[in-house]
Amino acid sequence: MGRNDDAIAQRKAQHLDICSDAERYAVEGGSTLLDEVRFVHRALPELNEPDVDLGTSFLDMPVSMPVFISSMTGGSAEGYRVNRLLARVAQESGIPVGTGSIRILFRKPDVIDHFMLKRIASGVPVFANIGGVQLVDPAQDPLLELIRRLEVDAVAVHLNPGQEVVQPEGDRAFRGVLDGIARLCERSPVPVIVKETGFGIGPAEAALLVDRGVRYVDVAGNGGTNWVTVERYRMDPAEQEVADEFADWGIPTGVAVAACDSLPGRILASGGIRSGMDVARAIALGAQAAGLALPFARAVVSGGYESARALAERIRSVLRTVMVLTGSPTIDALRRAPLVRSARFTEMTSALREADAERLHG
Ligand SMILES: Cc1cc2nc3c(=O)[nH]c(=O)nc-3n(C[C@H](O)[C@H](O)[C@H](O)COP(=O)(O)O)c2cc1C
Repeated sequence: MGRNDDAIAQRKAQHLDICSDAERYAVEGGSTLLDEVRFVHRALPELNEPDVDLGTSFLDMPVSMPVFISSMTGGSAEGYRVNRLLARVAQESGIPVGTGSIRILFRKPDVIDHFMLKRIASGVPVFANIGGVQLVDPAQDPLLELIRRLEVDAVAVHLNPGQEVVQPEGDRAFRGVLDGIARLCERSPVPVIVKETGFGIGPAEAALLVDRGVRYVDVAGNGGTNWVTVERYRMDPAEQEVADEFADWGIPTGVAVAACDSLPGRILASGGIRSGMDVARAIALGAQAAGLALPFARAVVSGGYESARALAERIRSVLRTVMVLTGSPTIDALRRAPLVRSARFTEMTSALREADAERLHG
């Protein structure tokens, strides 16, 4: 293993350590603003609880509920252990799961097993992960070959300019990423998902991505893990002061989903999704499914398979109860459930739409 390979594996292991130790590291910030949205309670739901069906589809495959485990890890020993556990949780819970970035496989192909989650989670959608900056290079054949070998159902491209720009070893050349994504969409054997990693994607950029062939846009907004804050723990004090000013950076997840309502069936919600109630609100705002990263990482590291499985079941239970109390027998009915949005939420949603359209087209 060369120095660079060591460095990537070590960095990934450090990220997982920082994110999974809630006592020592505070890595979350901002707000999804999902708590500014309320369902209208129905005293007369006019349905029978056993008839409520949480099943839906993800990448045209049936799943047991509109929830997924977001892209996280692989490449280190602990990452491999976590991936195996997450894949089991996904399989048993009937929900999709993502791998962490497969970039390390270009340098260290021997860890491919860390990313072969389909062997464990054969009954649910599994998606691989790669950085947008890795797509700028026009030669995508090695990536396409890897995607085939991993036998995944999709590939998620992560956009993380915030993290890259503060990371000492980060890639800072962001020009050409959109064209790189379009090239991947043309040639990829599986659908392409594009995600942020906690700072959000606005409606104009989401529309651009869908226009270039992207199947799902995961807004991955503000309100959960903040990757500048994660990197802050790896910085010297002067750099930390710069990072501190970005503790609340980004588009709140709830507002990003609401502002993307012209792209039905194309939007995934993640970034700060922490409960079944958050999932329910995100679905009613227009998301196809909602994803969690940090809570699953913490559950699996602190309590193993059982804790992560219990988290999935808690989410299911709350989602089911919301469906009963809003008179929604199916997930499609939940998507149409009326919502009361605060004035702040409504204002922020329309302000985001306007500002975003101006930025790209004005
Ligand atoms: C330990 C850890 C590792 C992560 N690694 C990746 C990664 O390799 N690729 C990626 O797209 N996102 C990665 N993420 C970001 C998540 O997929 C997600 O977008 C982000 O953490 C926001 O969701 P959350 O608030 O639920 O954590 C990682 C998150 C965590 C907690």
